[in-house]
Amino acid sequence: MAVQTEKGDNYEIKDITLKEDGLKTMEWAASRMPVLQIIKNRFIKEKPLKGVRIGACLHVTKETSQLCEAWLAGGAEVYLCASNPLSTQDEITAALVSKGVNVYAWKFMDSEGYYRSIGNVIKARPHITIDDGADVVSIMHKLKRGETDEQVEIIKKVIGESTDYIDSVWAGAEETTTGIIRLQAMSDDGALLHPIMATNSSPCKNMFDNVYGTGQSSIDGILRATADLIASKVFVVAGYGHCGKGVATRAKGMGARRVIVTEIEPHAALQATMDGMEVMPMTEAAKIADIIITATGCKDVIRKEHFEVMKDQCNIGNAGHFNIEINIPDLEELSTGKTQIRPFVEQYTMKDVRKINLLGEGRLINLAAAEGHPSEIMDLSFALQALASEYAVKHKKELSEMGGKVVQIPKEIDDNVAILKCEAMGITLDTLTPEQEKYLSSWRVGT
Ligand SMILES: NC(=O)c1ccc[n+]([C@@H]2O[C@H](COP(=O)([O-])OP(=O)(O)OC[C@H]3O[C@@H](n4cnc5c(N)ncnc54)[C@H](O)[C@@H]3O)[C@@H](O)[C@H]2O)c1
Repeated sequence: MAVQTEKGDNYEIKDITLKEDGLKTMEWAASRMPVLQIIKNRFIKEKPLKGVRIGACLHVTKETSQLCEAWLAGGAEVYLCASNPLSTQDEITAALVSKGVNVYAWKFMDSEGYYRSIGNVIKARPHITIDDGADVVSIMHKLKRGETDEQVEIIKKVIGESTDYIDSVWAGAEETTTGIIRLQAMSDDGALLHPIMATNSSPCKNMFDNVYGTGQSSIDGILRATADLIASKVFVVAGYGHCGKGVATRAKGMGARRVIVTEIEPHAALQATMDGMEVMPMTEAAKIADIIITATGCKDVIRKEHFEVMKDQCNIGNAGHFNIEINIPDLEELSTGKTQIRPFVEQYTMKDVRKINLLGEGRLINLAAAEGHPSEIMDLSFALQALASEYAVKHKKELSEMGGKVVQIPKEIDDNVAILKCEAMGITLDTLTPEQEKYLSSWRVGT
């Protein structure tokens, strides 16, 4: 059943009276995101985003509220919708509306509401788009190409028949791995119409957010959903990239009896083995798993042949891409029905009476059942996003000359974020002596 929402001139959210709770939660996040506060304070003075419209499709959490505040401080108009139907914190949406952000998001939104909200962001004709999974950018391109489908039809009810919304965009930024893969493929095909800054590819994002953020918050999501013990369990992680590494190492730290990794890539498989994980195909791992978490960015990682061999009461969840890593139609087909056992746990009864527990509808478990990445981690990712927006304004001409390319956020910006975070955490770096600098920069000196 669709969630009842409240609509105003600049919002569609769950409940505007949740503002006070949201403001308190925002304060909590602010005190844990020092780098973003430094940027915000500079933006208040310099107003680098004056008159700029930012259209963001992100997880609407307390951390995102801090990014929105930095954008507002810089003088931007901010339009925000959710990049996931389950991850929105409703109290934050109410607090953000009170701060002047245009917000279209609520927890448990259905597909119609999800695309209507994206439509509201597109309708604002943003100059800069910020995506987490490339939804806004993909739909703007689809409109321009004159393509239509169910999603476009929902959006057209909000924006009308114009197809030229993308013409207002100077540049975009993309927050996650899967979005970058899609946008790079569009660029390779000559289909991308404007530059995209690959926030996800910056060290300050993928070295920390994907590893430590996804690692901790996925375990948090599993625990909140199931309240099960991890110690003594057989814990399977599909994919040993940035996210999978984080989940697997934390499962080990929580005392899992065996941590098993499934991989398709030899280096990742070797690294998992040398990190002390077992590596085997999913067909084998599924037979012995108590918990399986996918983190691959690929589809159908858990499918029919795996459901057929799983143990009774196996918990399965996803920390990777949308809700496609677990093939839910296969699970539906093999089962006689499902029961909502607890929030975020649907128990499927298989035809042979085994029970399989699907966590968070197969959507990102760390955002569905927990609160996404901790604020301290998002401080890095969103500091990058704030500075990427400023960069897009300052370098509008250069970026527009680049056309449809996926570009890196400049190294100086990433280094600056890392330095500010070290300072905030009281980490003092060593410095090179002049002789050392010479040694490292000259091929004539040395061996
Ligand atoms: N949950 C979150 O909050 C969160 C945060 C960041 C990224 N992500 C998403 O998580 C996914 C993984 O991101 P990443 O940064 O770890 O990517 P990555 O490219 O570093 O790692 C993905 C790994 O999965 C492996 N893989 C691919 N298909 C596989 C399959 N069928 N079976 C087994 N292994 C397979 C790849 O070889 C690779 O090692 C992406 O979809 C990304 O968008 C989620």
